[in-house]
This record gives sequence, C-alpha cells and structure tokens, in this order.
Amino acid sequence: MTTYTGGILTISDKGSRGEREDTSGPQLQAILSEQGFSVVAYKIVPDEIAIIRETIRAWADEEKIDLILSTGGTGVSPSDLTPEATRPILDREIPGIGEAMRQASLQKTPNAILSRGIAGIRKNSLIINLPGSKKAARENLEAVLPALAHAIYKIKGGSKDCGS
Ligand code: MTE
Repeated sequence: MTTYTGGILTISDKGSRGEREDTSGPQLQAILSEQGFSVVAYKIVPDEIAIIRETIRAWADEEKIDLILSTGGTGVSPSDLTPEATRPILDREIPGIGEAMRQASLQKTPNAILSRGIAGIRKNSLIINLPGSKKAARENLEAVLPALAHAIYKIKGGSKDCGS
C-alpha cells in the first residue's frame, strides 16, 4: 500500500508569536498518522496572505506533499484570510469538500456557515482549509476523511475504476 504524505499548516497570529498553544495542528497530525499518512511538515504561520500562500506553494511544488491541511483563518474576522491566500494558487477547486464539511458541521453548530474554507488541487497535492479550533478542525476533517485516499489516488492519475 502506498503511504501518502501530509503537511499541517496552522494559521494563527497568536500561535505564530508563541502567545497561544497550537492544539489543532498536533491533533491533525495524530489523525493523519492514525490514517496511515506520513506527516512530513508542520508549521505555524501568522494570518498573512503572502506567508500562507508561499508555504502552501512550496509544500506542493517543492516538497510534493500529497495532502496539505491548513487550520485557522477561515472565518469572517478581518484577519481571516486563509481562503484568499489559497484560492489563487489552486489549479482546480473541489467545491464538494467545502460543501460536505459545512453540511456535516451544521449538525454540530449554526456557526458552521461562518467557515469559508475551500479545497482544491495544485499539481499533485490536495489542499484543504479547515477552521482553527481543535474541535472544529477535527469535525470538519472527519466529514471528508473517508474520501481523501481515493481523491489523492485520482489526483495522481490513478486509473482504477471508482466503483471497484
Ligand atoms: N465547524 C464545526 N464542525 N464545529 C465548530 O465548532 N466552529 C465555527 C466554524 N465551523 C465550528 C465549525 C466557527 S465558530 C467559526 S468562526 C468558523 O468555523 C471559522 O473558524 P476559523 O476562523 O477559526 O477558521
């Protein structure tokens, strides 16, 4: 079985200054590891478009990480800019991932509609924006996790029939 690689990017002004412990990033690392991914990158960056974008670009183009998960900055505060940082560097969006995350999250909280996270493909990498809190990140990831290995397989050009 192929082991896919994962990268976790925590996006938080306070976290990047060491003023808030990152609990979401380590949790995502643990979930990916349990799922058989090899987590090869983890970083905390501030809510700054250029830094977020360059990190995701480098992880996709140079590190060739199969699955890049960001956590934080998807909401509606003035500093929440993760979708704006992500969208221009995607080759193709996958709207169904955001739709599924918000639909599942609405069963948990009405605030689910406030996450503007998007997902898509850059080269051979699948990139997904998750919300920032530990609880929200886990709930959103769990909503789409069952489809991720198949998504990565297809992104890499896998030709096995989807039904098999
Ligand atoms: N989704 C789930 N499943 N559970 C949650 O607790 N919190 C919401 C939302 N999505 C939440 C959720 C809240 S309160 C916000 S503000 C948005 O995600 C955006 O979060 P972010 O700005 O930390 O990315």
